[in-house]
Amino acid sequence: MAIRVRRETLGDIRDIYNINLQAFGREDEGRLADRLRNKVSPFISLVAEDGEGVLAGHILFTPVTVGNSPIRAAGLGPMAVLPERQGTGTGSALIREGLQTCAGEGMEAVFVLGHPEYYTKFGFSHGSVKGIYWKSDEFAPYFFVIELVPGALEGVTREARFHPAFDEV
Ligand SMILES: CC(C)(COP(=O)(O)OP(=O)(O)OC[C@H]1O[C@@H](n2cnc3c(N)ncnc32)[C@H](O)[C@@H]1OP(=O)(O)O)[C@@H](O)C(=O)NCCC(=O)NCCS
Repeated sequence: MAIRVRRETLGDIRDIYNINLQAFGREDEGRLADRLRNKVSPFISLVAEDGEGVLAGHILFTPVTVGNSPIRAAGLGPMAVLPERQGTGTGSALIREGLQTCAGEGMEAVFVLGHPEYYTKFGFSHGSVKGIYWKSDEFAPYFFVIELVPGALEGVTREARFHPAFDEV
């Protein structure tokens, strides 16, 4: 079924919460999106809508800081697709559109904590390749980055931090 990726609207907020709830099997990620809305800028929240207007997936990008660097970077997450729609390309469409939207908003790099096999397909490489590290050893293997502006991370050797609200998840 054809999927259209678009910005969230006010009427989508409940569906976004439910998509995260179903995909993760818990409330934390949906709550996180709700906490960050109206709190951070940019808040790039996209939904995947099928031809019948049903929302099948959601992706969120929020600001990330890298040491004291002035780089404009975003963190990808949470991202979720309804269980019955997984494996049909919805997540891929959300990532591709999301990266384009971030680039359009002047983001120079995007970070994610996620499944290595999944994100490398979209051009992400491990943060250490670019000299950026994650604070905990537990999640360090899952820390990936993509430059939206080639060379943007050159000389930026620091710790990347998502918004403190992510620490509560
Ligand atoms: C991860 C998730 C968003 C992917 O969405 P999706 O719509 O199923 O993704 P796609 O259909 O675009 O899948 C693309 C590819 O990634 C693979 N893939 C999907 N989930 C994966 C995972 N958890 N680990 C590794 N590969 C995965 C698919 O098998 C597919 O491979 P292929 O292209 O070789 O066939 C979705 O599975 C989900 O909501 N999972 C639960 C929540 C979650 O883990 N979110 C991500 C947090 S980082």
